[in-house]
Amino acid sequence: MKRKRKLFYLLFMTIVLTHFIPFTFSCILLLNGWTPLSVYERTELADIVLSAHVKRAFKEWNQRTTAQTYYAEVEILQVYKGVELLGQILVNAQNRRLSNVTNFGDKKMCYADVMEGERYILFLTTYKQRLSAKYDDIFGAAAEYTQYNVRQVIAQLGWDEWSPWTSCSTSCEGGSQTRHRACEKENGTCSGTAVEKRQCNLFPCKGVKDLMPYLGITKLPLGVTQVTDRNHSFNISKTAKPFSPLVSIFRSGLPQDFSLLTTVVFPRHTSGFFLTLSDLMGKQRLAIHYSSSSVVFQYYDQNNLPGEKSPSFDVQISDSTWHQVAFSVKGNKIALYLDCDTIISKPFPRSQHSSIGTTLMLAIGPYFARYGFPFEGAVEQLTFSSDPDSAKLQCNPVDDTKILHEQAVKDDGQLDVNIVKDFKSPTPAPPKPTATPIPHLTTQFRRKETTPELNEWSTWSSWSLCNVTCGRGVQTRSAYCRNNALNSLECVGKNAVRTQTRACDVGKCEAYCSSSCLNGGTCNITTGCICRDGYEGKQCENVMCNPICQNGGRCISPNVCACPEGLKGPLCESVVCDPPCLNGGRCILSGVCACPYGYMPPDCTPTCAFPCHNGGRCIRPNKCKCQPGYQGRDCTEPVCRDGCFNGGACVAPKTCSCPRGFSGSRCHLIECNPPCQNRGACVFPGVCRCKKGYTGDLCDKHTCKKPCSNGGQCTGPNQCTCPLGYGGKWCHRKRCNVTCFNGGKCKSRRCRCKGSFVGTRCEKRECRYEQYVVPSQKSIRTFQREEYTTQCGHWQWKTCVQTRLKYVLVTHTLYRTAYRCI
Ligand SMILES: *[C@@H]1O[C@H](CO)[C@@H](O)[C@H](O)[C@H]1NC(C)=O
Ligand SMILES: *[C@@H]1O[C@H](CO)[C@@H](O)[C@H](O)[C@H]1NC(C)=O
Ligand SMILES: *[C@@H]1O[C@H](CO)[C@@H](O)[C@H](O)[C@H]1NC(C)=O
Ligand SMILES: *[C@@H]1O[C@H](CO)[C@@H](O)[C@H](O)[C@H]1NC(C)=O
Ligand SMILES: *[C@@H]1O[C@H](CO)[C@@H](O)[C@H](O)[C@H]1NC(C)=O
Ligand SMILES: *[C@@H]1O[C@H](CO)[C@@H](O)[C@H](O)[C@H]1NC(C)=O
Ligand SMILES: *[C@@H]1O[C@H](CO)[C@@H](O)[C@H](O)[C@H]1NC(C)=O
Repeated sequence: MKRKRKLFYLLFMTIVLTHFIPFTFSCILLLNGWTPLSVYERTELADIVLSAHVKRAFKEWNQRTTAQTYYAEVEILQVYKGVELLGQILVNAQNRRLSNVTNFGDKKMCYADVMEGERYILFLTTYKQRLSAKYDDIFGAAAEYTQYNVRQVIAQLGWDEWSPWTSCSTSCEGGSQTRHRACEKENGTCSGTAVEKRQCNLFPCKGVKDLMPYLGITKLPLGVTQVTDRNHSFNISKTAKPFSPLVSIFRSGLPQDFSLLTTVVFPRHTSGFFLTLSDLMGKQRLAIHYSSSSVVFQYYDQNNLPGEKSPSFDVQISDSTWHQVAFSVKGNKIALYLDCDTIISKPFPRSQHSSIGTTLMLAIGPYFARYGFPFEGAVEQLTFSSDPDSAKLQCNPVDDTKILHEQAVKDDGQLDVNIVKDFKSPTPAPPKPTATPIPHLTTQFRRKETTPELNEWSTWSSWSLCNVTCGRGVQTRSAYCRNNALNSLECVGKNAVRTQTRACDVGKCEAYCSSSCLNGGTCNITTGCICRDGYEGKQCENVMCNPICQNGGRCISPNVCACPEGLKGPLCESVVCDPPCLNGGRCILSGVCACPYGYMPPDCTPTCAFPCHNGGRCIRPNKCKCQPGYQGRDCTEPVCRDGCFNGGACVAPKTCSCPRGFSGSRCHLIECNPPCQNRGACVFPGVCRCKKGYTGDLCDKHTCKKPCSNGGQCTGPNQCTCPLGYGGKWCHRKRCNVTCFNGGKCKSRRCRCKGSFVGTRCEKRECRYEQYVVPSQKSIRTFQREEYTTQCGHWQWKTCVQTRLKYVLVTHTLYRTAYRCI
């Protein structure tokens, strides 16, 4: 389809150009019913097949040849075919992987056009010691670099796919790793090498932390198993959740700039978090998220930058094979190094003094379940380096061109069959003891110019420091074997490091104690300061703790560590939790307990899914201890010790709720309402059992053995109350029906009176009369004459006696005769 469209486009262009431009630049072959050759066929026909990055294409018209072709500078990534031929071409002194390739472009538009920055599979040949595009087909010198096309190339060459790279032989300062592939052609003659070797972990050991022991993975906890065919590789299942506080790895938190180097297998078509750093609030501050189409380096610093805009790399790594994935974080840049041949750089817009905090939990997979499922996969390398440049030294790409050169300079070109056999695909390929498994490498190009040594060993390292501080000592330097296994017969199998030693002289030893020795050290002219126990250094200026203080503890005097807050122990090796972790909880960070299931931080108190009521306490997971008076799962059932009788319900401690008719603390009392009278017993609610002589529902009625006669009322047991005029037990007797006064007694229905009383009811007395005088007084007013003297005459000189009338009260006593009864 694509081809057809391209064809159509070209035809269209041809027509347009022939119409409007005097010259025609059409690919004339196109018009003759062209069917493109497959990559497989082109691989067969080409002399050299390789993958390459086009760095520069010199397409300017004045840079082109007469046939309008141009050359391009490419970086060779991998050589599939013709590695021997490549040895003939001139190499660039600075970078052997760089080469100029001619013959791209026009030639009346039938030649392949390449774009700068793109990656291609190139089909080439050599021409005058230079690389040249080879056309076995229209456009045929360059094919898109796709997995599918690469597979066609490999298939044509007869190779099986490469095995993954083996483990690196060292974890820092330069090791090697190999990979191999099997030739599937019947006579075992595939073009190219069966084994490749490359250098790895070339970064210095200083500042490098291997996280695996911190995470406890090397101790094979539950869910972690050793991968059988690789040393130091671990299969991590979802039951394993390796984690470790970051402070136990970096006491002052993650360095600002760093490298993170991993070698890891992500299962096919999976996604999730691989490595996380989570804070106490449950937020992931740094996390590596992988999916089938990308890897995201999530990062949230103190300003939550770059946060949601964390850099994402479009690479496909969840494919169940080993990948080397390294991140370099430096300032505002981050780079991903994938399998040592893909480098993607991205801006990393974080804050000025970016910090993600120190109280963090490092975990493989998410530490908090809300971020998804645990990680499942395999891990071989998990290394933090405080040097951001370490990431790019995780491994060196295989230098195919160099392999050839080194091969070509070998003296006799004979291969040691045994060594080659070791590296041949160990699995299904049947042993071929005598066949030469790696052909095409042995013959053709032998130049004899330099010494083999220079080519087989790495260049010498710089000289080490002299091993004495004064006087004569020695210093060393070393070189290691970094050749392809096939060619480095002298390296492989022997000790892969060679060293040289030379004498050195660091000045006279006098003057050495010129500065005084500190901390009680004594000066020895020849050897320098002799320090007291617990001190070291040139001037004994350093205090020593042996073993050394851990977790950021500071050695403050010999064997005395000053611990940061939250840590204790002679070496600051223990974290402190206050309050202490209860119930078997582990103190994992200062103040942070890891609690067993069913117990809750901060101090691992047990939790009950349902709260304990009525003052009950949760004493074990889902187990309440109730206050007296309550029972049940959540202490909501009150206890009535002796139970409630008669259908009563226990509603509160010692309190029964009784049905109608019962009462009492246990509903044991029966109630009659209204109550039974006359000491009758209540035997059932509303039912009275009466004492003898009583009857009725309430025992309020009496019985008389015989009926009361004459209208008498039975008013008590066998007691009749008789009407007036009747008497006797049953009122059967007639009685006086009159009331006799004054002590008279009723006899034969008449009153017999006492003494002098008489009358039918003795109401009056019988009398004898006596006569007696009753005195009484009576007063009357009368006139009396009275004489008095007065002065009289004209001159009042005479005395006269005169008379006048006056009222007076006169009282008389009168007597009356009366009678009385005696
Ligand atoms: C390719 O050619 C350019 C320009 O002529 C030159 O600068 C460059 O060094 C050449 N590259 C190599 C690898 O020879
Ligand atoms: C190996 O077999 C291929 C075809 O299968 C043949 O072209 C080639 O000449 C053979 N090489 C040797 C060394 O037998
Ligand atoms: C890792 O474990 C899984 C499941 O247990 C298993 O299928 C797989 O083969 C193991 N991988 C390695 C490399 O051991
Ligand atoms: C694993 O390590 C042992 C001992 O160091 C070594 O003998 C063995 O060859 C190693 N295996 C692999 C697969 O690297
Ligand atoms: C320095 O190295 C030499 C040779 O290995 C050795 O004899 C000497 O004791 C060393 N000196 C010191 C101070 O380690
Ligand atoms: C200095 O040290 C050397 C070697 O240990 C010893 O022989 C010498 O006696 C010491 N000198 C003094 C002054 O302690
Ligand atoms: C008492 O009884 C007599 C005869 O039995 C009767 O005539 C009389 O009325 C009665 N008196 C009273 C006060 O009942």
